[in-house]
Amino acid sequence: MARRTVARRLEGRRLVIASHNQGKLREIRELLAPRHIAVGSAAEHGVPEPEEDGESFAANAAIKARAVSAATGLPALSDDSGLVVPALGGEPGIHSARWAGPARDFGLAMKKVIEMLGACDPAAHFNCALALAWPDGHAEIFEGRIDGTLVWPPRGGHGFGYDPIFVPMGLNETFGEMAPEKKHAMSHRARAFALFADACLPR
Ligand code: IMP
Repeated sequence: MARRTVARRLEGRRLVIASHNQGKLREIRELLAPRHIAVGSAAEHGVPEPEEDGESFAANAAIKARAVSAATGLPALSDDSGLVVPALGGEPGIHSARWAGPARDFGLAMKKVIEMLGACDPAAHFNCALALAWPDGHAEIFEGRIDGTLVWPPRGGHGFGYDPIFVPMGLNETFGEMAPEKKHAMSHRARAFALFADACLPR
């Protein structure tokens, strides 16, 4: 008989966000705000970023959440995400942060994507894997995706990363032009977060 797996739920109301990316930290804090969870960050706990050597968003999310949970003794929530461009063989994908170089120059990364794309199909999607891990190594993983199109030149000053060149399907404005609440209502991160919240946050 098939057995339905039930996700492990957060028992207390404290967790650490296992990310050093300010854009992600801000968005995850905004998503958690109505849930009355006390949130710290890996940097506040003095935990460095582990090496992300997984081959998928989910694997990298689990690596980050497990490392921070083991180091702090608290449940840790991580986000591994990126822009996937099928015409570029799925790149930048799990290497999205690396495409911006050590200076984290996303103006450069966006230009590189558009130049490599040339006249190829500008279809793209953002993927997000959220992992919640506990100090015993157990992890729950949730994934979300939003489809859209790449545009050039970049538009808008909201958001972070590749937001100014991504227009969600059916809309005309980029994530960079959108008010944060509008992005939170549809983004890959918000979709993964809704699954995570339903399965793991205290009722
Ligand atoms: P990582 O998950 O820390 O490896 O980094 C993911 C990278 O993907 C970020 O640095 C951003 O460049 C990009 N990315 C992920 N989510 C978003 C988003 O919501 N908007 C724009 N860029 C994103």
